Amino acid sequence: MNVASRLPETSAAAQADRPAKSTKPAFLGFGLGLRAQHYDEILNGNPPIDWFEVISENYMIPGGQPLRTLDRICEGYPVVMHGVSLSIASTAPPNFEYLQGLKDLARRVEPKWVSDHLCWTGVHGKNLHDLLPIPYTKEALDHVVSRVQLVQDFLGRAIVLENVSTYVQFNNSEMTEWEFLSELSRRSGCWLLFDINNVYVSAFNHGYDPLAFLNGIPADRVVQFHMAGHSHMGTHIIDTHDHPVCEDVWDLYVAALKHFGRVSTMIERDDNIPPLDELLLEVKRTREIAERVLPSLGKQAE
Ligand SMILES: [Fe+2]
Repeated sequence: MNVASRLPETSAAAQADRPAKSTKPAFLGFGLGLRAQHYDEILNGNPPIDWFEVISENYMIPGGQPLRTLDRICEGYPVVMHGVSLSIASTAPPNFEYLQGLKDLARRVEPKWVSDHLCWTGVHGKNLHDLLPIPYTKEALDHVVSRVQLVQDFLGRAIVLENVSTYVQFNNSEMTEWEFLSELSRRSGCWLLFDINNVYVSAFNHGYDPLAFLNGIPADRVVQFHMAGHSHMGTHIIDTHDHPVCEDVWDLYVAALKHFGRVSTMIERDDNIPPLDELLLEVKRTREIAERVLPSLGKQAE
């Protein structure tokens, strides 16, 4: 596809700061990542979940049962879209077929927001199916700002980007991850998805204080929290999303609530999926802790 012909005129000025003027999305409450194992129970049981996050790529094939199921979920719950293939930091040309699919799905779902990760997932047409880290340099920041602006122009909405768990760091980084994310959000106008487990995992793996990360992010730029489990290997942590949320991450959630205030929060389980009731208990705990830490939460709720 001819990339140049698809770029909005202003995107050529890659270095120019041009924050999207979007209103901060409203607080949704306490949600859960939608997984196929729970479709029937959700559709038949109307469980007490405020909203669902859906994996965009699972529904980007036209027609079929998954889309019909998603339509029914959307009738009963607010939904946000969460992708894993945007590859926003890649140096490969933007994939406009993918972006068009994302835009088409967003038109159908009418999500409260569309998110992905600050990472790259492949190059030269190859998708490595992993969320790969980037160096936190000024050059990379300029590059990602211009990519976010391009994607936001194409989709016609501000996007939301999540911090990923990382296992390596780059010697040429010129700033911290939290400085990079903060500047990216300020310059491009994108919102941030603050994955509390990912902060915990990366902080352990690289030996820094997770509170430094947390306190380094401006509170007004964060629209969503992820809470998830991981696999602790002793010397390092792998972000497997196949366990319940651990107590250290629950403690970090308390600190996040104190710093960010009320933020739409959800439980993200991707493997070793338990019965819905088990995840509902974790969703209930996110709500109970938030109500305890932020006594005014109920009064503020919309
Ligand atoms: Fe996450």
